[in-house]
Amino acid sequence: MKFLDLGQQPIANAFLTPGKCENEFFYNLEVGVDLETSLVSHVDFVPPSMMFNDTYVYHTSSSKTMVKHFRSVAKEIKRDFGDVKILEIGSNDGTFIKNFDLDKAIAVEPCGNFAKLTTEMGYTTHNEFWSQKLAVQLAHRHNRFDVIYSANCMCHIQDLDSAFRAIYYALDDNGVFIFEDPSLLEMLERNSYDQIYDEHAHIFSVTALNNILHTMGFEIFRVDKTPIHGGSNRIFVKKKHSIKNPPDGSLDIELEQEDLAGISDKQTYLDFAKRVETSKHKLLELLHDIKDGGNKIVSYGATSKSTSVFNYCGIGPDLVDYITDTTPDKQGKLSPGVHIPVVSPKEGFDDSVDYAFLGAWNFLEEITKKESKFLRRGGQFITHVPEVRTLRGEPANV
Ligand code: TMP
Repeated sequence: MKFLDLGQQPIANAFLTPGKCENEFFYNLEVGVDLETSLVSHVDFVPPSMMFNDTYVYHTSSSKTMVKHFRSVAKEIKRDFGDVKILEIGSNDGTFIKNFDLDKAIAVEPCGNFAKLTTEMGYTTHNEFWSQKLAVQLAHRHNRFDVIYSANCMCHIQDLDSAFRAIYYALDDNGVFIFEDPSLLEMLERNSYDQIYDEHAHIFSVTALNNILHTMGFEIFRVDKTPIHGGSNRIFVKKKHSIKNPPDGSLDIELEQEDLAGISDKQTYLDFAKRVETSKHKLLELLHDIKDGGNKIVSYGATSKSTSVFNYCGIGPDLVDYITDTTPDKQGKLSPGVHIPVVSPKEGFDDSVDYAFLGAWNFLEEITKKESKFLRRGGQFITHVPEVRTLRGEPANV
C-alpha cells in the first residue's frame, strides 16, 4: 500500500559543479508498506549504479561519532564472538574494518574510490555489489565466514531475497550475521521522514526483518538499539539449525514494542504521512518568518537527509544562503535538486550566521559541543525532528 509521496527528488549524494547542472536526474519518491511482511520500501527503485559509483561522497569517518561507534562495535564483536574471520559488506572508507587484523577481514564495496582506500590499507577488497555470485566466489576462496557484518548497507539493497540468500551461502553454519540500519519505529516516532531518500530502498522494522529472515532459514537471536543515525537497530542473526547463540529475549521485546506502535497497521502509515505534510508546512512557515525578520539562515551538514527535506519542501537558496559541510568533495559544489551552494565550515560558519538548519540533526550532540560559541553568542539551530522548532542556549540545554 502506497502511503507517502515525497515528490520529485534528485540523487541525494549527487552534488553538482556550478555551471554544469543541466540534465540532472529526478525521480518521484513514493513509499509503500507491504501489508503482509510489514516491509516499508520505495515504490520504484533508483538504479544502484546511479548512487553507488566511483564518485560517491559520503565518508563514514567524516564524523567523530561514527568513528567512535564503529570502534566500539568492533570491540563488542571480538568480546562476544572471539577472534573471528569477518566479512564486511559495504566497507566505505574502512572506518569499521580497520579495527580488525588484515588477515582476518575481507571487504566488499561497490564504490571504487572507497574500495581503493581499504585496498591501500592492506585489506582484500572486492570492488563490486554484493551478490550470490560473489558469495560463492568468496566462500570458495576464503572459506565461509564466522561473522558477516554490514552497517547502513542492507537497507540500500533492493533485492533483499537475493542478498540474504547470498549471506546464507557465505556464512559458516555456526556463524553470525550482524547488520545495522535506521529503525522504522524511530522514524515514525521522531517524524524523521528524511530517513527516506534514494539510497534507503527500505526502512526496516524488526517485525519485517523477522518475517523475511525466517522464510530464508535464518533466526534473529538478539536486537540491540543504538542512537546512531537518529535511531538504528543492530540485528544479530544465525542459521536456524545452529544451536550456538540462543535467543536472549530482546527480539520479543522489540516485536512487542513495534506491535504496540501499530507497525503492521495501515492507519499508522496514513497518520505518519499526514504528520509529514504538517511538518513541511511548519518548517516553511518558520524559515519564512526568520528570513522576513532579516536573519541569515544557513544549513549545517550537506546530508542526504537534507536533500530529501529541501526537495520535498521546496527550500532553496532564497531561504538558505548556503550549506556548510566538512567533506572536501562536497565543498564548492551545489546541493542536489535545489542547488544551494556548499562551503567549508571555516569559510561559512562565521559570526554572520543567525540560524543554522540542522541537516545533520542526528549528530546534535557532537555539533552542539563543537559549536558552543555559536550558541553562546545567540545563534540558533533549526530542526524538524521530532517537531519543527529552534534550539537555543547553552549547548548542554539544547
Ligand atoms: P549523514 O547524516 O548522512 O551521516 O552525513 C553527515 C554529513 O554531515 C557529512 O557530510 C559530514 C557533515 N558533518 C559536518 O559538516 N559537520 C559535523 O560536525 C558533522 C557531525 C557532520
